[in-house]
Amino acid sequence: MKIFLDTSRVEEMKRWSHIIDGVTTNPSILQKEGGNIEEICELMNPLPVSVESGGDFYTEAMDLWEWLHPLNENLAIKVPFLKPNGQDNLLVIDSLIKEGLTINCTAVFNFNQVMLATKLGCRYISLFVGRIDDEGGDAEDIVRDCCDLVSISSFSDRNKPDQELILGSIRSPKDFDRYAKAIYDGLGFSIITVPPEVLQKMIQHKYAQETSKQFENDYVPVVTLKGLKDTQKALEIPHPLAGD
Ligand code: E4P
Repeated sequence: MKIFLDTSRVEEMKRWSHIIDGVTTNPSILQKEGGNIEEICELMNPLPVSVESGGDFYTEAMDLWEWLHPLNENLAIKVPFLKPNGQDNLLVIDSLIKEGLTINCTAVFNFNQVMLATKLGCRYISLFVGRIDDEGGDAEDIVRDCCDLVSISSFSDRNKPDQELILGSIRSPKDFDRYAKAIYDGLGFSIITVPPEVLQKMIQHKYAQETSKQFENDYVPVVTLKGLKDTQKALEIPHPLAGD
């Protein structure tokens, strides 16, 4: 399973660099968090970065690609499944893929949309599980169906082996837990994109910290152990870090 960071904050990308496998952004994240797209692409390279197009979607996507692909070899251009007027972007996406762009079909909300984006040959398909749940849907169920979909290799001749489903719109550690378990390993649909705040909450555990404190109190430094080669004798010597 891969973890992408859903942010445009470079300091968070650096903070989590040892954990993350890529970055996703969207216009609202950029609006809220700021950030320099060039810097993000260069920093993360060769790890994938998704940047979203808007406007007419086609020329904007081409411009983004021309500008940023030299900075990040695994750049993906996000194109929402639907335009703001409710028409689909499938033809636009098809044309962009034929031009050689790597596409992340985003703002996907149901199995049928996943299926169609998969059939087009999108590299990534971003299912917004949190928003599906928000409106009373069952995102876990959709994820399971989608995992079955990618296991059907004869589904489409344009269905590429490296296609991956990104589970986005993760709001809490519980969400992460649920969706990580819903992913069937090895079937390609394997990415969760998560905001830094959720990752931060995921690492916290009151008793893990208390346990670590206990071990810190009882710890005998290597230099002391080496000198006495006997833990009991070493324990009689005051801990070098202990106060008076
Ligand atoms: C995914 O690529 C999106 O950027 C993101 O997960 C959307 O999440 P939201 O529903 O919290 O806006």
